[in-house]
Amino acid sequence: MYDGTHRNSGDNVMVDIKLMQGDCLEKMKDIPDGSVDLVLTDPPYKLASGGRKGTILPTKNTPFSKSGECFKNKTPNFAKWIPEIYRVLKTSSYAFIMTNDRNLKEIWNLCEKNNFIFCEILVIRKNTAVPSCYFFKSCEFVLMFRKGKYKKLEKFGTKTVFDVNMPRGIDKLHPTEKPTGFIEKILIDTTKSGGLIFDPFMGSGSTGVACVNTGRSFIGIELDEGYFKIAQDRINQAVVNINKQDSLFTCEIKQPCNSCGKWEREEDYDDCKGIPTKNDSNTY
Ligand SMILES: C[S@@+](CC[C@H](N)C(=O)[O-])C[C@H]1O[C@@H](n2cnc3c(N)ncnc32)[C@H](O)[C@@H]1O
Repeated sequence: MYDGTHRNSGDNVMVDIKLMQGDCLEKMKDIPDGSVDLVLTDPPYKLASGGRKGTILPTKNTPFSKSGECFKNKTPNFAKWIPEIYRVLKTSSYAFIMTNDRNLKEIWNLCEKNNFIFCEILVIRKNTAVPSCYFFKSCEFVLMFRKGKYKKLEKFGTKTVFDVNMPRGIDKLHPTEKPTGFIEKILIDTTKSGGLIFDPFMGSGSTGVACVNTGRSFIGIELDEGYFKIAQDRINQAVVNINKQDSLFTCEIKQPCNSCGKWEREEDYDDCKGIPTKNDSNTY
């Protein structure tokens, strides 16, 4: 079970966290080409009925509608964001995209159409199951793609099936929340400490928490204000916890300067005389 917290070894590194509330299709435009070491995301997609005619499987925590929309906002087209994650990734870097069985083919095809090279398919074997008229669904998938030439992983030996305990009950903060342990394992196996990880659909911030716990920098975007606030609180708490420990890295949450717009640490603001936009809901 990947439910523990993983620590990396190495030099003391500075970890920066940048959180943005808004539409990732807009916000991503500000991320420079080839600037990100890894994309790891769990994108929104429409839900199919699971074989039960005319219905979308209802669950207590999930606002599914008959149209298949899972969240308040309209699901962005895969074809719009896949080219953008390719653009922001450095060459010889990896993208991990979570999906269910029904959307796997479309995401896979579009990624290849946008020059990604397929590397691997990981299986998230869950301790829960969703009824279907075929087999009850107890797993999800993570498609692993590469941009450009092969780069050796940081660590070898991890198997492609991850057994995970899904968040449940009062611990569950988001309808499709993923546990952080298996995300931490992927980050440690594929990136160096201090590397920059990007999640355009961060939901409750699970990828961000995994980054803080493993000493990776993070850029996260979430459209829904409520989930964004949950992500901010969770990631902030993870930063407080990690900075209390005798860890090999120091974590700081950056804020955009309201004068020059640059993401700075508080002590850097003297340069442009701007002030951190502390109360701006877009930022941390
Ligand atoms: C599948 S969930 C991610 C859940 C996440 N893995 C977690 O552990 O909490 C996808 C998220 O994408 C958000 N979303 C939908 N459209 C978006 C957009 N255009 N830009 C940014 N976020 C969006 C949804 O509000 C939702 O929270």
